Amino acid sequence: MTASATKRNAKFPSQSALAKTFHWVNIIALLLMMASGLQIYNANPVFGGRAGWDFPELVLLGGWLAGGRAWHFAIMWVYSLNLLAYGVFVFVTRRWQHRFASSGDLKALRASQNEKRKNFAKHRLVYTAIVPVLLLAIASGLAMYKPAQLHWLAALFGNWQTLRTVHFLTVPIVLAFSLVHSLLALKVGNLRLIKSMFV
Ligand code: HEM
Repeated sequence: MTASATKRNAKFPSQSALAKTFHWVNIIALLLMMASGLQIYNANPVFGGRAGWDFPELVLLGGWLAGGRAWHFAIMWVYSLNLLAYGVFVFVTRRWQHRFASSGDLKALRASQNEKRKNFAKHRLVYTAIVPVLLLAIASGLAMYKPAQLHWLAALFGNWQTLRTVHFLTVPIVLAFSLVHSLLALKVGNLRLIKSMFV
């Protein structure tokens, strides 16, 4: 490759087709999980019971409680298996060694004078921190889905109301994450970096 071609490629970040596929499937599955989850929520709001505040039709999926549950429990397979496949991919390709936050990022945040390096550290910390939240959505969801078989898992959350609240809170956390994640991606790599993750 010529020096100018190398320079040109450096300006166009590229992602592997597999990474892009996991990203797309994750976003679509999460949107469907949120919309069907909010449909379930509306049948008996976590906050305030049947008289509690609910969500408008526009953001719901399934039409009614049973429809929402059918969607939720069908898409949970897509969402969970995609996350599992991504985990295997990250492990096998050793991406976890250089794509996720490390102690070097924490050090950079504390001591670096380089703004670019700091933003990069923030970016990696944020997208590393969302992984446990995505897993928490699965763990709390499974505990509600099979409370008899997984009573030990449900017990970790204390009581049913706390379990429901934790599961519900994964929605605003994922939404806030998406916003911060996109803003930091813009900051560290501008629109090209974002585009490279989608096309
Ligand atoms: C992938 C594994 C998941 C499983 C097994 C699962 C299972 C469940 C179950 C059983 C319920 C009904 C709770 C009830 O009857 O009160 C529920 C509700 C809900 N889920 Fe999930 N879920 C999963 C993932 C997710 C994800 C990823 C999100 C979005 C980030 C989500 C959002 C919601 C919401 C908003 C509700 C309504 C909360 C409530 O009213 O209790 N779920 N889920």
